[in-house]
Amino acid sequence: ADTKVYRASTTAPVNIAVVKYWGKRDPKLNLPTNSSLSVTLSQADLRTLTTASCSAAYPAPEGDSLLLNGEPSDVSGARTQACFRELRARRAALEAADPSLPKLSTMPLRLVSENNFPTAAGLASSAAGFAAFVRAIANLYELPASPSELSLIARQGSGSACRSLFGGYVAWRMGSAPDGSDSRADQVAPASHWPEMRALILVASAAKKGVSSTSGMQQTVATSGLFRERITTVVPENMDKMEKAIAARDFAAFAEVTMRDSNSFHATCADTYPPIFYMNDVSRAAIRAVEAVNAAAGRTVAAYTFDAGPNAVIYYLEQDTAAVVGTFYHLLGGLDGWKADSLKGAQSAVALD
Ligand code: PMV
Repeated sequence: ADTKVYRASTTAPVNIAVVKYWGKRDPKLNLPTNSSLSVTLSQADLRTLTTASCSAAYPAPEGDSLLLNGEPSDVSGARTQACFRELRARRAALEAADPSLPKLSTMPLRLVSENNFPTAAGLASSAAGFAAFVRAIANLYELPASPSELSLIARQGSGSACRSLFGGYVAWRMGSAPDGSDSRADQVAPASHWPEMRALILVASAAKKGVSSTSGMQQTVATSGLFRERITTVVPENMDKMEKAIAARDFAAFAEVTMRDSNSFHATCADTYPPIFYMNDVSRAAIRAVEAVNAAAGRTVAAYTFDAGPNAVIYYLEQDTAAVVGTFYHLLGGLDGWKADSLKGAQSAVALD
């Protein structure tokens, strides 16, 4: 009998959206109400490393398992199960076509996953996590799948994960097919197109767990009137402007769309009933600091964006590092609520891959 352990590893990067995904039109398939666009951050600073293995010798009752940062993690959730199912089906098709292949699709899977950044940093790690999860198994199964095909599977794990299958500037096209077959990511531009782009991550020191993105989205779709305006008008315009800004390497335009889209997303959250607040006083202080940095420079050198939490991500260009990072430390350094090392930019100012 085949008692071999088959194994493959991969890493996946974090991405931070500049036009936000917020809202599901099909919660089961993770189909979004709007397209979104993100910047992939450097894997040298932020990444998930995942090893997938399978063996007929793994005790069958144990089933599939995941060890996340050393802790056993639940894999019974519908999203994780959808990823397992999709990947196994593709492997089973290969095995049916070529009976000489080992029957990996029938063996229990073990996944071991590690982030190289503290989970306590409050960064949304699900994007890198599911992207690495899907690619590690695809590598193990030797699936002839393109990043676009894998993005389709990762999307079902966590929406934003579909954008972590690509580097550089990445769009997730919402698509229109009811089965989700056209809701996938593509690369708008490689990192080399605009290699000066940097991200400074400001970590709020007292980031307590807020409303999950899934329930926040559900509540927003169900109760916000402003949200309808966002998905019909605001986001389509922002997608268009953002793609043009990236093509032209126009930082002022990139920054304006980034900040406006973050504001719009958080406005719809405040417009839900009852309202959801992801930003707090220190978040708002960072917004004011970005405005002060830009005013002092006499041009736009920094842009803020916030996901479903109080941490700020500041985009800027390499040549403006001193103006941005130095000034931030000056403005926010004396303020309680931010982790000091994140203000100094230590381990936090990351380049694109
Ligand atoms: O992929 P999820 O379900 O964790 O949702 C991510 C939502 C935001 O981070 C707020 C926006 C985005 O596009 O990444």
